[in-house]
Amino acid sequence: METIRIDMTEEKVDHQKLEAPIEILKKGGLVAFPTETVYGLGGDALRADASKKIYAAKGRPSDNPLIVHIADFSQLEEIASEVPESARKLNEAFWPGPLTMIVKKNDKVPYETTGGLDTVAVRMPSHPVARALLQDSRVMIAAPSANTSGRPSPTMADHVWEDLHDKIDCIIDGGTVDIGLESTIVDLSEDVPTILRPGYINQEMIREVLGECIMDPGLSEENKKVRPKAPGMRYKHYAPKGELYIVEGDMDKVIDKINELAKEASESGEIVGIVATEETKDRYKYGRVLTIGSREDEDSIAHNLYGILREFDELGDTKMYTEAFSTPRIGQAIMNRLLKAAGHKVIEV
Ligand code: TXA
Ligand code: MG
Repeated sequence: METIRIDMTEEKVDHQKLEAPIEILKKGGLVAFPTETVYGLGGDALRADASKKIYAAKGRPSDNPLIVHIADFSQLEEIASEVPESARKLNEAFWPGPLTMIVKKNDKVPYETTGGLDTVAVRMPSHPVARALLQDSRVMIAAPSANTSGRPSPTMADHVWEDLHDKIDCIIDGGTVDIGLESTIVDLSEDVPTILRPGYINQEMIREVLGECIMDPGLSEENKKVRPKAPGMRYKHYAPKGELYIVEGDMDKVIDKINELAKEASESGEIVGIVATEETKDRYKYGRVLTIGSREDEDSIAHNLYGILREFDELGDTKMYTEAFSTPRIGQAIMNRLLKAAGHKVIEV
């Protein structure tokens, strides 16, 4: 299938150019589009055939449910069997934005979209192109991240093209996304609001609105016996082709350790990549040093993480070392993704 590519900017949404992708969505086809978190691969959420196409294009297991993107709160009411008070409060506080809520679904939502579950994940994105697509079409759009299953989520249209061209009908290029990590997922279908996937909206922010909010025990690094509640969090994810190690501890020691490991690896013929920050990049002596951002600006680290993981593959790196990024606000989300990418290989110094 020939994939059409449409150019647009966040600053100036061209509604006329959206007519073709809207036509495609209405016919059950697939359109990749930018959101403020990552690019999504969209299809009509209320059509089982469209959801099936999404799984096929991504090579995604069909028991891993999709997130339904909506234009306004009335659309959540249209597909939920109950709308908890907590959903109304979170809507007031964070929507449109990088937060996904899980609620009980009604019969309108096919099980193909929810991976067989009786709950549905819903998000109202804030990206102007995503909003225009949702508002102009009035289609509720099921959209996982627009990557091949197992690859890092796409933060620009070229990443989507790399993974999915010829497999989907259309890509809307809206430039590089803002946040760079997938949305926070909060489960409101049980008694206590529970974060199933950490993201830009953190536990503290949700607690401030709802009074209570816990982390899914399945996310814990210590307790590996409890399964994460979100099916997608159980899979190995975002893994670059080479071997990635996280080196954690006092910064001077981390740098010494990475220099030592990078030297050894280079000498034994490995192609070495290092993830450094603006603050540390000049202190590494071996391998190729990629700067992820600045510790003074944790958003910059989230923003560049997936791009760097993809770059490793492009450059053919075989051994990679990264500093840890347990920054105050979104460090939990960054480390959650980085640990998966590294297959939990952590060296403490
Ligand atoms: O930022 C985002 O959320 C992006 C953009 C495109 O909106 N989308 C995204 O979708 O990250 P995806 O499919 O890559 O991740 C969806 C996650 C998976 O881990 C899935 O298991 C979980 O949401 N999920 C979806 N519905 C669920 C449900 N009913 N119960 C538990 N987990 C659910
Ligand atoms: Mg994904």
